[in-house]
Amino acid sequence: MCGIVGYVGPKQAQDVVVEGLRRLEYRGYDSAGVALVVPGDVISLAKRAGKLANLEKALADSPLPASHTGIGHTRWATHGAPNDVNAHPHLGHERRVALVHNGIIENFADLRARLEADDHVLLSETDTEVVAHLVELQVESGVDLTTAMQRVCQVLEGAFTLVAIDAHDPDRVVAARRNSPLVVGVGDGEHFLGSDVAAFIEHTREALELGQDQVVSITREGVEITDFHGHPAEGRRYHVDWDLSAAEKDGHDWFMRKEIFEQPRAVADSLLGRRNQAGLLQLDEMRLSDDEIRDVDKIIIIACGTSFYAGMVAKYAIEHWTRIPVEVELASEFRYRDPILDYSTLVVAISQSGETADTLQAIRHARTQRSKVLAICNTNGSTIPRESDAVIYTHAGPEIGVASTKGFLTQLVACYLLALYVAQVKGTRYGDEIDEIMVQLEAIPQQIETVLAGAQQVYDLAREHTGTRSVLFLGRHAGYPVALEGALKLKELAYLHAEGFAAGELKHGPIALVEEGLPVLCVVPPRGRDQLHEKMISGIQEVRARGARTICLAEEGDTRIEPYADVLIRLPRVPVLLQPLVATVPLQLFACELATLMGHDVDQPRNLAKSVTVE
Ligand code: M6R
Repeated sequence: MCGIVGYVGPKQAQDVVVEGLRRLEYRGYDSAGVALVVPGDVISLAKRAGKLANLEKALADSPLPASHTGIGHTRWATHGAPNDVNAHPHLGHERRVALVHNGIIENFADLRARLEADDHVLLSETDTEVVAHLVELQVESGVDLTTAMQRVCQVLEGAFTLVAIDAHDPDRVVAARRNSPLVVGVGDGEHFLGSDVAAFIEHTREALELGQDQVVSITREGVEITDFHGHPAEGRRYHVDWDLSAAEKDGHDWFMRKEIFEQPRAVADSLLGRRNQAGLLQLDEMRLSDDEIRDVDKIIIIACGTSFYAGMVAKYAIEHWTRIPVEVELASEFRYRDPILDYSTLVVAISQSGETADTLQAIRHARTQRSKVLAICNTNGSTIPRESDAVIYTHAGPEIGVASTKGFLTQLVACYLLALYVAQVKGTRYGDEIDEIMVQLEAIPQQIETVLAGAQQVYDLAREHTGTRSVLFLGRHAGYPVALEGALKLKELAYLHAEGFAAGELKHGPIALVEEGLPVLCVVPPRGRDQLHEKMISGIQEVRARGARTICLAEEGDTRIEPYADVLIRLPRVPVLLQPLVATVPLQLFACELATLMGHDVDQPRNLAKSVTVE
C-alpha cells in the first residue's frame, strides 16, 4: 500500500517524481524517497522517515543533481520500522541499481539468507532491499535491466510492484507487477509510472493498464511490455476522464470535507445512465446473464471496514426486495471458515479502492469454489473488478481522504441498484415498485444537500465535544450499520473510544457503559415502520434514564422523539431502507469537525492508509 512513481523524459525528474508522490501520499506516509540517475552514471538518492514534507525539506536544503530519469516512493511500512534506513528507494550492493516496491515478498527471508551467505551486506530490515541486490546481480552479469527484472520476478513469491533504475542505462525505468497496482502514463516524448493515475495526471491523461505478471520498460521514445519470461505482451490503453482539479481540495481544508460536500453529485453520478429508454434498469458492466441471476439462491457479501457496513445495509435491501438470503462477512475472515459456496452462490465484493488484499484473496477463494463474483468498486481498472465476473462501478470520482465518505454513499447506491436489478430479473418486485424506488433514489442528492446545509449545527455540536473521551452510537435495522459507521469515523479521525450498537442489544450488556453526560448519538428510524420507531424510542429512554446525553438524528415531522432528545438533528423524510444515505452525512461531518478541532490530520489519520494491499 505504498505509492510508487517513475519518470523518464525532458523535465527535471526530481520535480516530476516528488509532485507525483504528493498526489499518492494518501497511500502511505511513513517515509518517502527519490532516486535519480545523474551524470557520471551514478545513482543519487534522498530519503526521509515521516511525511513527504520531510523529504521535500531535505531536497530544498540539498537538491539532487539535475536528471531526467527517476523513481520515488511513499511508504506504508510492512517489513521494518518507518525510519530513514528502511525508507525506499533501496540500492544494490554496488549502488548501481535503485529500486522501490509496494507489496510483500513472501520468500524474502530465504533470498536474504542466500545473499548474506555470498557476503552481501543488507542495511535495512526490508524485503525490498533483497530485490534491489538481486536485480543488480543480474545487470552486473551482463543482461539489461528489463531482462534482469524478468529473471528476478521469476523467483519472487508474494505481491509486488517493483520499479527500478540502473546507473549504467540512464534513459530507462523498468517496472514489474504481480497482485499490486501499476499504471503507465503515456506522454509526448516522456513516460510515467504510478500506483495510480493521480501520480501523473497533470502531465498526461493517456494511460496503459498492465496485466498480471508483466514487466514494463519505459524510455522517452516508448513503452515495452513483456511477461516475466520475456514474451511480448500488451497493456490496455485508456483515457483518464478526470482532471487534476478533481484531485484537489476545492477550497476546503481537507479532502475529506470536500468529499463529504461532493456527495450529492457523487450519488447523482452513481445513478446516472442506469435505466434504458423503457425505464428498465440496465447495469452496463454487469456481465452476468439473466439466467445466471435467476440461478442465484444465496448471496454472500464480503468487504472490509466502511465497505463492510455498506454490505450490512445491502443485506436489508436485497433480502427485502429479492427474497434471496444474504450473508455479510468480513473479507479477512471469509476463507478461513471454509464457507459453503457453489455455482448458485453470488459473491458480492465491495471495495472502494479495488485493491484491498483481504477482499481480493476472499474473491479468489470464492472463484475456486465455482461461485460467481460481482465487484462493487470505485476504481476503474483496479485488481478486484479485473478478477471478478461482473462489476458495478460506483462512479464517485477519486477519493483521497483516508476516511471513506462519498465512497460509502455510492457503494450504498450500487447495492440498491444491484438489489433492484435482481428483483427485476427474478420478478420479485413489480416494475412500478422498482420505478417508485428509483424515483426515491433520484431525489436523494437534493436531500443530502439539505443535510449539508445544516452542517453548522453539527460543527457547533462537535465544538461542545472536544473534551469527550467516549461516544456511543445507536441504531436499529438499516440504522445499525450507520451507527457502526459513525463510530468508525470517530475512531479513525478523532482517535476516540467510539462504539456502535444495535439499540435492542444495549440491555444485554453495553448499557453498563452509560454514565452521567455520556454522549449517545441515536439514528432514529423513519416512522414508516412504527414498531421499529417505537422500539428505538424505548432504547433512547433507557440510556437517557441513566444520565446519557442523547443526540438524535430523526426525520422532519417526527414529534414523538422530541421529549427524549437533548439535541435534535433533523433529517429529510426518506423510506427506512434509504435512510443510511442521509443519516450517515451528519456523522461524517461530526467526525471531520471534531478531529479538526482536536488538531488531527483528517486526511491522513495516524496508522492508516487509503488502500490496504496487505493481508
Ligand atoms: O478500499 P476498500 O473499500 O476495500 O477499503 C476497505 C477499508 O479499508 C476502508 O473502508 C476503511 O475502513 C476506511 N478507512 C474507512 O473510512
